[in-house]
Amino acid sequence: MNNEYPNETIRLLVERASCRSFDLRPVEPEILQHILEAGIHAPNGGNLQPYSVIKIENDDTKRRLVDLCGGQKYVAQAPVVLVFCIDWHRTARWADLERAPFTATSSFRAFWISLQDTVLCAQNMVTAADSLGLGSVYIGSVIESFRELREILELPDKVLPVVMLLLGYPRGKPPRQKRLATRLVVHDEKYREPSDEELLDALRKKYPWQRQATDEALEKLAAVCRTVHGPQFADECVARIRRDGFISPAQWYFGLWYRADVLAEGNEAFVDLMEEFGFDWFKEYHPFEERERGSR
Ligand SMILES: Cc1cc2nc3c(=O)[nH]c(=O)nc-3n(C[C@H](O)[C@H](O)[C@H](O)COP(=O)(O)O)c2cc1C
Repeated sequence: MNNEYPNETIRLLVERASCRSFDLRPVEPEILQHILEAGIHAPNGGNLQPYSVIKIENDDTKRRLVDLCGGQKYVAQAPVVLVFCIDWHRTARWADLERAPFTATSSFRAFWISLQDTVLCAQNMVTAADSLGLGSVYIGSVIESFRELREILELPDKVLPVVMLLLGYPRGKPPRQKRLATRLVVHDEKYREPSDEELLDALRKKYPWQRQATDEALEKLAAVCRTVHGPQFADECVARIRRDGFISPAQWYFGLWYRADVLAEGNEAFVDLMEEFGFDWFKEYHPFEERERGSR
């Protein structure tokens, strides 16, 4: 990688790495304030800022969060935990107080933009934290514990957790992860399909490791393949592993880690959950007169 950077910002952005081991040193309130300010100054659709950030420094709360995040222990070790939420509650109240019409929670467009707004706010804080010598890591597994989070954080209707961010001074320098070459990700003018060879080569460079093909792993992987694509595909996967003598990163990622059979499960439950949180953008919207006609 090119170590010549035109300025410190580019160096920070390119050399950053997620931090999962934190020093006991607390984050000074004025430093934290700068980070939070940097977040809320991120670009956002129409400058509506439909998000809220719950700042957690209480140790008991952090310990409860560990269980909600699949036992990721560093959640309790980080001095500051931030939970980023889409928040249409505040805007809905504003509209109501001002007698303005409001349908944002019934709109996929609004949901889509507010998700981006929330993440951009978080990412500004990540960069601000890096620039001040702090480390951070996102925790995405909040998606498995929406209800519990709502209860612990006392989230009102129309507030949906998106992602968590751990912040603190790093204990040691976190290892950097490789990325795909820019050429594969950025397309000049139009989408460019790489050859199979180029694609595989780029991914082998990014993930230069293999996993051992133990009988147990093979059995698990074959079962996932069978569930998702049927017995013939499972046989092909196993034959490929026997031929190569190892489990490849793609097989490991989607067969054993972000398991393809589990990944696509429960979509309807998420839709129900959405409704429970006060969002109904997945339903057809019926304006006032139609609703009146329907109820007659
Ligand atoms: C949306 C999102 C969710 C993530 N969730 C987790 C998580 O639950 N636990 C974790 O340790 N890291 C999590 N990460 C961090 C990624 O694993 C990390 O960014 C990725 O492996 C690249 O490594 P790097 O950030 O060090 O470059 C998450 C990152 C993002 C953007």
